[in-house]
Amino acid sequence: MCGIIGYTGDDDAIPYLIDGIKNLEYRGYDSFGCAFELKGAIEVRKDAGKIEDVLSRYGISQFSAPKAIFHTRWATHGSVKKENAHPLLDCTGMIAVVHNGIIENWAELKSSLGSHRFVSDTDTEVLAHMVEDEMRAGNSLSDAVKNVFGRIKGSSSFLVMNQRTEELVAVKKGSPLVLGLGKHGTFISSDVPSFIAYTNKVVYLYDGDLVSIWKNKYEIDNLLDKNVTHKVAKVNLTVKDAEKGSHSHFMIKEIMEQPGLIKKLTAGGFGEVEKAAGLVKNARTTYLVGAGTSFHVARLGTRILREFGIVSVPIQGQDITTFGKVIKPDDVFVIISQSGETADLINALPMMKNNKKIGIMNSEESTLAKAVDILIPIGAGPEKAVAATKSFTLSSIYMCLLAAFAAGEKNKALHDLNLLDINLYNQLVPSVYSTIEKAAYRLKRMESVYFLGRDYDFIIALEAALKLKEISYIHAEAIDAATFKHGPLALVSDNTYLVAVVSDKSYDQTIYNLEEIKARSGKIIGISNRNAKAFDVFIRTQDAGMFSFVMQTIILQLLAYRISVLRGLDPDRPKNLAKSVTVK
Ligand code: AGP
Repeated sequence: MCGIIGYTGDDDAIPYLIDGIKNLEYRGYDSFGCAFELKGAIEVRKDAGKIEDVLSRYGISQFSAPKAIFHTRWATHGSVKKENAHPLLDCTGMIAVVHNGIIENWAELKSSLGSHRFVSDTDTEVLAHMVEDEMRAGNSLSDAVKNVFGRIKGSSSFLVMNQRTEELVAVKKGSPLVLGLGKHGTFISSDVPSFIAYTNKVVYLYDGDLVSIWKNKYEIDNLLDKNVTHKVAKVNLTVKDAEKGSHSHFMIKEIMEQPGLIKKLTAGGFGEVEKAAGLVKNARTTYLVGAGTSFHVARLGTRILREFGIVSVPIQGQDITTFGKVIKPDDVFVIISQSGETADLINALPMMKNNKKIGIMNSEESTLAKAVDILIPIGAGPEKAVAATKSFTLSSIYMCLLAAFAAGEKNKALHDLNLLDINLYNQLVPSVYSTIEKAAYRLKRMESVYFLGRDYDFIIALEAALKLKEISYIHAEAIDAATFKHGPLALVSDNTYLVAVVSDKSYDQTIYNLEEIKARSGKIIGISNRNAKAFDVFIRTQDAGMFSFVMQTIILQLLAYRISVLRGLDPDRPKNLAKSVTVK
């Protein structure tokens, strides 16, 4: 999704924002641009392509300015080209706008701006011209932005710079915005890591917030709810947390963080899980809502709740309206989201308005986190690679704990959690890495790979297939091993590779299915705690009771990562994808 960062202050804004915008790269983008003051005028430099390339193409680092706004664009309205990159200017060239979101009534607004000169195909450009009209009518920048906000439909956060005023003005709806209060100036950004090197004093913004920032002060007025209050918080994030360090990519850094994060989790602090378990225990039905990887957590949750005799249904956000006639007030929702900003889930909130909501989330200050009654923070720290890894395992673990606590199986869950912590260290050993590498070499040139498993293993296969397709561009499909014989078996030839997830629970039946594939010359990479004749490559996993799936998952994450790297791709920045999907 688009990234926004602005600064006004005593120091030079340009180096701060170059550094800051690079820290927003993880959100996914296709163009980069900036606006800054130069000799009393607003200068814009922008283009399609990577930040580094655009920076050097336009020599941006040689400029200096007391205030500036930077932006990474993930195209929604209008193709990927220079003219559509942000900032967008008004007719006078004195007002520059960067935007994250979608203006649903932009066509109507544009036709009311007939006398203005438009140079892009974006919805954003109407904002610049509308602010222009408002200011021409004598309004201050802040009032102009307020009036424009009142006329646009959809979820949009945007930041405006006016050549004639010191302050920058922004408004938030939908997409995140946060203030950073530095010693010599003020930041406004889509995310904290973009300015954490300069300040850890932040003010999280809420939907409806109209905010003006000066070098040493800020003013916030919520246009939707007069009762909203804001406080200055100190974030615990360090620069190290937000950087790759010695790792080649964020994805591998985040995969390798998992054992440490799980160890931390075992140390306890399950108060929120206990509270949430009380709700699930008394619910008629528990709906588990998520998207993409987080939907796989929901599926896993439903499976484990079923094992404990608790009725639950996994739902993808966009499908929630189809449940209109079945949702009752004594149903409970569990919303699973790494970012807490996924549009499909935010749009589903009105359907849950009469129900208790539990959140399993990573971003504690996100829109969804603020909408739930009980928040279970997964504590994964920043996840910057587009492919979700540590957030999947931690959300899944919390989901399992919630299910077990609700079913009165807390002791078993904590026992298995300790087993996971101990055995994970036995799992990540050189012999396992070398078999992962062997498998990666076999798969790196394939056009298509199938992931198989039964029951729980099938859910892990779904997640593995998603991971592989998003970072390697190989067609990857998960199929329930039991259903293979009902059709997909026709696809098998001696050039077919399958990755089989085989846990103890379904071992005999899955191996039986794999033998059928083997008899048709298919090649099988087996992920299991026991070898089998059917496996061409065997990657050994360790057991961890109800958390054994974490062992399989980490191996499959490493496999996808290695395949991506061997194919010469950048796993952190898969084409066409954004880290959090804030569009419908
Ligand atoms: C997974 O690797 C994805 N990048 C994607 O499917 C993601 O899980 C999905 O967009 C949901 O995001 P969320 O957890 O932030 O809501």
